[in-house]
Formats: sequence, C-alpha cells, structure tokens
Amino acid sequence: MRINPSILAADFANVESELARIDGADFVHVDVMDNHFVPNLTFGPQMVGRIQATSPVPLDVHLMIDEPERWAPEYAELGAASVTFHLEAATEPIALARRLRAIGARAGLAVKPATQIEGLFDVLDEFDQILVMTVEPGFGGQSFMPETMPKLRLLADEARSRGSSIWLQVDGGISESTIAQAAEAGADTFVAGSAVFGAADPDAAISALRASAVRHHQH
Ligand code: DX5
Ligand code: ZN
Repeated sequence: MRINPSILAADFANVESELARIDGADFVHVDVMDNHFVPNLTFGPQMVGRIQATSPVPLDVHLMIDEPERWAPEYAELGAASVTFHLEAATEPIALARRLRAIGARAGLAVKPATQIEGLFDVLDEFDQILVMTVEPGFGGQSFMPETMPKLRLLADEARSRGSSIWLQVDGGISESTIAQAAEAGADTFVAGSAVFGAADPDAAISALRASAVRHHQH
C-alpha cells in the first residue's frame, strides 16, 4: 500500500521544508495543471525539476494538461519515477505510454470520474498504473466521490483475473474516513493532499493512512 502526498496542499513558498515533512511517504504526487484541461494553473517542468532535485522520495507526476504527447516526455526525462497523463486529453495513449517507459518512467493513465474504463481492459499491460480520479480534477480539498468505486472495483477485478501487477491509484478526497472504501474496492496507491499536509504531523498521518489501507485492502 503506497501513500503519495499531493504537493498541491503544501506551502509552495517553502517547498524544500514541506518535502522534508513527508520523508515517510512512498512518492510525492506532483499536480501539473495548465489552465486548459482543468480550470487551474500550477507549474511546469522547471519547478518539477527543482522538486525532483530536493525531494527525499521519488516523484509521481500527475499531468492535468492538454497535449500530453507534447509535454509528458520531458517530465520522464527530468527523472520522475512515474508520469501519469489523462485519457481524455490523449490522442495516442499507448504510443505515449511506450515513450515514457522507454525513457525509464512508469507510465500512468488517469481517468476523470465520469470516464468509462472498459476500453482499457485489453491494453492494461501498456501501463504501469491507472489513476481513478475520485474528484473532478483541478483542486485540492474536495469531497471524495463514492460513485467512482464501482468502476475501481471492476478495474481491480479485471486486473486480477488477467494476472496483472498494475498499480491502481485513487486521487481526491482521500482521508482517514474515505481510504477504507477505496482500499476495499481494490486501490493500492493513495494520493492525499489536505489529509497529509493539513496534519500537525504529516508523517504520522501517512502512517495512519497506510495502516488503514492495509487493513481494508481487498484483492
Ligand atoms: C486534484 C489533484 C489532487 C489533489 C488532491 O485535481 O489531482 O492530487 O491535490 O487533494 P486532496 O487530497 O486534498 O483532495
Ligand atoms: Zn493529482
């Protein structure tokens, strides 16, 4: 069970010290937004390169941007452990996943809450992780959408029946009160922004979330 704190909930003026508060995390989740794919703007490769240089844990980059074919490889080249782009924004998702893997990153594919995933079952091997969004992408601090859980469960069942070792990630509204539902539905990788950076002791929050995920995980 992996816990990936989202840097979106950190203090951007003190990124280095914020990263030091989550050295017990598995990865740091880095939300890149372009104000086109989502109605919010964060940062690009230059900032992510600095995060990469100072982070005590590997980077899990989540690209909420248009034209991922044009921009995603740069994040793999700067050393991100995983680069996840959105199915809704991609024109050639399999070709892009192959490029990311060739550079040495894990290839991730994200889907918004309303996006169906049945079309992915035959190409699961092309990806290292699937991100099922549990809020509409764009902002931290939103409420978890339980209606996304049947889709996650279907994906987890399908992955298991195919003998796949793909990671299943959830992102949005994950906290001590919602992580059990996501773990029961088959998630093994959990992004949490406010629940970690909003805690007095972020590493303690990470441990508590991980323990709850371990207790409730099915599949
Ligand atoms: C939302 C981002 C999330 C966000 C999660 O578009 O993809 O990673 O930071 O924040 P919380 O955990 O606060 O919902
Ligand atoms: Zn995210």
